[in-house]
Amino acid sequence: MVKHKQLKLGALLHGVGGGTSMWRHPDALPDASVDFELYKRWIQKAEAGKFDLIFIADGLYINEKSIPHFLNRFEPITILSTLAAVSKHIGLVGTLSTTYSEPFTVARQFASLDMISGGRAGWNVVTSPLEGSALNYGGKEHPEHDKRYDIAAEYLEVTRGLWDSWEDDAFVRDKETGVFFDPQKMHPLNHEGKYFSVKGPLNIARSKQGQPVIFQAGSSEVGKNYASREADAVFTGHETLAEAAEFYRDVKDRVAAFGRNPGEVLIFPGIAPIIGSTPEEAERKYQEVAGLVTIENALNYLGRFFEHHDFSQYSLDEPFPDVGDLGKNSFQSGTDKIKKNAREKGLTLRQVALQSATPRSGFIGTPEQVADQIQAWFEAEAADGFMITAAVPKGLEEFVDLVVPILQERGIYRTEYESDTLRGNLGLSVPENRYARKKATAGQGGAK
Ligand SMILES: Cc1cc2nc3c(=O)[nH]c(=O)nc-3n(C[C@H](O)[C@H](O)[C@H](O)COP(=O)(O)O)c2cc1C
Repeated sequence: MVKHKQLKLGALLHGVGGGTSMWRHPDALPDASVDFELYKRWIQKAEAGKFDLIFIADGLYINEKSIPHFLNRFEPITILSTLAAVSKHIGLVGTLSTTYSEPFTVARQFASLDMISGGRAGWNVVTSPLEGSALNYGGKEHPEHDKRYDIAAEYLEVTRGLWDSWEDDAFVRDKETGVFFDPQKMHPLNHEGKYFSVKGPLNIARSKQGQPVIFQAGSSEVGKNYASREADAVFTGHETLAEAAEFYRDVKDRVAAFGRNPGEVLIFPGIAPIIGSTPEEAERKYQEVAGLVTIENALNYLGRFFEHHDFSQYSLDEPFPDVGDLGKNSFQSGTDKIKKNAREKGLTLRQVALQSATPRSGFIGTPEQVADQIQAWFEAEAADGFMITAAVPKGLEEFVDLVVPILQERGIYRTEYESDTLRGNLGLSVPENRYARKKATAGQGGAK
């Protein structure tokens, strides 16, 4: 039997949800964002469903208009380190900002998570969209959008350099001779760049998967270039198959243009499936959550993408207001899309706000219908995998119980893990230690 290309799956664990109001649903746990036992059950459920990874999103600035999940939630590295101990195969991907942190600290944190989990760590490299973040980090200036990516590029260069501080067989630990490590295999970095000065070496070695997997989640031109040059995987969001397929082709072409193998950069659109025993039941579930969202909720939700702009000052049933360049320096790709869509379709502010805050998932219906949609996107090369998030209470549990078996039956999704590292399951190669590679290359040259 010919083995089909295998779909990848991630679970975006988002506590009380990524919207404004799911916490009010009768079946929702209103403290889900800080319920460790629930996170534990979720990772174990995702692992039972053979998911490649769980994913923790993050942000660094809140105010009274932020959605409930953002107000009171776990810090990614902390929750992932704890979840590592109650799981075996599933990857642990956390978001951390390159604008408001130091590469030496972050390299250590992810290397530690990678070691604790036996090679299952991943880092979603973000540049922090919100200007307010600066107020929580000494009030320094929030760098502008493209400069944030420029900083992120050097940041990742430093981090990757630090992760190679030790060759894989550097620690000899010979009790007889008293030799703990081989100094020839320990490498300071001595990085002096435009933004960072880091001597190294890092005080932790590489894990079984060599280096943590790099995710990226920005879709502007500069964001796509960054992803294509640097990332192993891209987290993205699209409403239609056509739009997703265009993004997929665009990023894979850019990856090839940077001289990389397009198969080694995986694209994960985020989706929020809503499953019912009939299409009507699924629709009712959507309406139950959407019906909890007030117009005030929706305006605040929309406002965050535009630096928490106050949209309540405009008339709701007039065309979406002209907000100029607002949003360009925060969620650039997202706000560009909202403005374009509003302009092209002639939408009112009320329509734009409600569409943002109560998006109707295209992945709605019976388990078979949701599986059909997933398969269609996968086979049309619009996705290598999906990041699943819950749009209704028990959304993840229902997906694992009802949709995963269909995908497995169709031969497009694993029934057993191939590996116990994240790279292994994603089919990504282990990056060779740069110093070991250099020595091997020099050795080959010498033998000629
Ligand atoms: C699907 C998706 C998920 C994202 N998740 C996060 C996140 O968890 N934390 C964060 O600070 N930014 C997140 N972002 C924002 C991006 O990292 C980026 O800052 C923002 O989209 C602006 O960059 P861009 O204009 O290149 O898209 C996400 C963006 C997308 C598209």
